Amino acid sequence: MEAERRYSFGGRSGGDDPTEAPEQDATEEQPERVVPDDTPVDIEGAFRDSNVQEVLDKLDRELVGLAPIKTRIKETAALLLVDRVRTGVGLPAAVPSLHMSFTGNPGTGKTTVALRMAEILHRLEYIRKGHLVTVTRDQLVGQYIGHTAPKTKEVLKKAMGGVLFIDEAYYLHRPENERDYGSEAIETILQVMENQRDDIVVILAGYKDRMERFFENNPGMHSRIAHHLDFPDHTAGELLQIAGLMLEEQQYRFSPEAEAAFREYLDLRIERPNFSNARSVRNALDRARLRQANRLFDAGGRGLTRKDLMTIEPEDIRASRVFQDAASGTEETGTDIR
Ligand SMILES: Nc1ncnc2c1ncn2[C@@H]1O[C@H](COP(=O)(O)OP(=O)(O)OP(=O)(O)O)[C@@H](O)[C@H]1O
Ligand SMILES: [Mg+2]
Repeated sequence: MEAERRYSFGGRSGGDDPTEAPEQDATEEQPERVVPDDTPVDIEGAFRDSNVQEVLDKLDRELVGLAPIKTRIKETAALLLVDRVRTGVGLPAAVPSLHMSFTGNPGTGKTTVALRMAEILHRLEYIRKGHLVTVTRDQLVGQYIGHTAPKTKEVLKKAMGGVLFIDEAYYLHRPENERDYGSEAIETILQVMENQRDDIVVILAGYKDRMERFFENNPGMHSRIAHHLDFPDHTAGELLQIAGLMLEEQQYRFSPEAEAAFREYLDLRIERPNFSNARSVRNALDRARLRQANRLFDAGGRGLTRKDLMTIEPEDIRASRVFQDAASGTEETGTDIR
């Protein structure tokens, strides 16, 4: 699964078809260099020069929990860095295959981590540009015969030099529909994953069980993905911490009573339908800010201070329907619970 790579990170002069293997540059041949084994190497210096620490710190700061994911990202960074140092002293470096799958429930941080991953891979010069192109089935699969391959190739072209993030990737495979063009998209993507794997990283994302079924049905895809990262649900404590970070970002904060109310809110909300981890936290905070604004407005500006503008009070939380439903024993299965 590994190919040898020369770290020549110039712009690739690829043709128009992203599925074609890049042309070999005949001028690339260089005379063998003899580097003595006791040549000192400076991994720390290479690490400093890459500015990767900055992204890793940001990841630690901005993302609560997710310890196994953070560890994997650091390991990947270390591998790429050592590869660079190896080529620097005339040792071969294998191109590690970095296609990945991110499985987990909604709002567990998959898209956020994909963005950071693209940034890290770019800083370590694994990919040229470091941008993230997010797509779902609709952007890849056409409605009519002959439409799918050009559509998929267009997306791949856009993603070249960066990361292609395919959300809910299992929708590409619809075995119940024999005239489905999804498999054509999969074939095209597979070719690029194999032939261009030093210029694009493909991340497939979605629910774990459905993704596992997808891989069972598409062993070719499974075998080309080296890293399977599973994003666990956040605990209530982590969600509270995430809420704190989100508020801080916008210069808001909970009063101590509001924090206690939000903790209660979380315990109730987690049990309700359509709970989406950190995404539900973000939505709940948006609504709390709305209620806070109304409360301040209703106060008619009497004796308000800057601090009031920043503070979420317990009533901004407790007005949520989640508390009312809990009090009346309602167990609705509506779409969005406020
Ligand atoms: N561990 C975390 N710490 C802090 N914020 C987080 C964490 N996980 C997610 N978030 C925040 O929650 C929101 C949703 O995260 P994100 O979009 O990355 O989730 P996702 O797994 O891609 O969800 P979906 O499956 O719904 O697309 C974002 O605003 C993100 O910043
Ligand atoms: Mg997402």
